[in-house]
Amino acid sequence: MTNMLTDFVGLKMKNPFIIAAGPWNRDGSSTKKGLLAGAGAVITETIVSDAMLDVRPRIAYNGFGAQNIRLYSDIQVEGWEHEMDIAKSAGGIVIASVSAHTPSELAYLASKMEKFGADAIEISVSNPAKEGLEVLASNPDVIFDMTREVVSNVRIPVIVKLSQNSTNISRVAKAVQKAGGSAVSAINSVRCILGVDIEKAEPSLPTYGGYSGVPIRPLGLASVATIAQTSDIPICGVGGIDNFRNAVEYMMLGASAVQVGTAVMIHGFERITEMVEQLEEWCDSHGISDVQEIRGKALKNLKSFDEMKIEPAISISDGRPCREGCNECVRSCVYNAIEKTGNEVKAIGDRCTGCGLCTSLCPIKKLHMKW
Ligand SMILES: Cc1cc2nc3c(=O)[nH]c(=O)nc-3n(C[C@H](O)[C@H](O)[C@H](O)COP(=O)(O)O)c2cc1C
Repeated sequence: MTNMLTDFVGLKMKNPFIIAAGPWNRDGSSTKKGLLAGAGAVITETIVSDAMLDVRPRIAYNGFGAQNIRLYSDIQVEGWEHEMDIAKSAGGIVIASVSAHTPSELAYLASKMEKFGADAIEISVSNPAKEGLEVLASNPDVIFDMTREVVSNVRIPVIVKLSQNSTNISRVAKAVQKAGGSAVSAINSVRCILGVDIEKAEPSLPTYGGYSGVPIRPLGLASVATIAQTSDIPICGVGGIDNFRNAVEYMMLGASAVQVGTAVMIHGFERITEMVEQLEEWCDSHGISDVQEIRGKALKNLKSFDEMKIEPAISISDGRPCREGCNECVRSCVYNAIEKTGNEVKAIGDRCTGCGLCTSLCPIKKLHMKW
């Protein structure tokens, strides 16, 4: 059996799955549900000192991803004393998410939450609905000051959640490490407008919000890999994790633990139970004795663009018959290099430039690259 125990910033989690900050963790009893579903830890919805009533509507979903303009917990920090008692009654690890505009306000919220029993603090530095915080989240000096102030006022580990909207995520991650932060989480939701109803000329929600769910996973993966390649601070991967395979992807690119938000919001806490079980089964079937063996495994295969060599390669077929009526590779080949005869396709050697698109488009994966 694979050892799923995950030591993340000193927190002894029973597996690497953490339920991300959001309204599914809006109070003690919802937070407890995630722990009972089997998560290694949960993160409260972000607690601020000026808790406000929510705008309505504030969440939209288009079948792929979600936009939210939810602005933090509507429970005042003092109210979290009671909520933390409920959350902690499940016996698991509860991380408190806090946000503020100044280091001293952040430190105040963090020390309150430590007193109420939080096992760690996650500082949420960005808010895609509000441009002001996105600017702060890109500034390594600001992040350094905020992190240092919190670190020097609490004894529990401090994690900083980074924004993909920041232009220099690795510099921000280094600032966290220099200030004594224990880890970074990457990424928060990404500033977006989900869509526009063209008959009514109305955006899906009336203001900018944070994009989350499956479509942001490639952005999260790139952020995690960038941080892993440029610093040695522990990373929690977040963004678009929908199944256990996505968690493995994040871990292979350097994450020690992962967070899940939108998948829980859309599919319920059962999705976490499923992911935990399936990750364990997958690790067992791959002879992995400790889940942390996965960490960073794909990084050695990730080169910088300058290291890429121009090697001759073309697309070839493994000879299996094509799917009935399928013409995708022929239609999409911008080099006109694929010919179809009956049920078989062939790349024309002197036209195929080895771009690789057909190998990812082929629905039965019969095309692959030949070097
Ligand atoms: C409705 C909603 C509310 C959220 N609220 C918070 C929040 O209070 N604090 C925070 O740091 N992130 C918040 N997030 C961001 C998530 O924690 C997570 O970083 C992001 O959604 C990407 O992960 P996902 O694709 O698994 O949802 C929220 C996301 C959603 C969808």
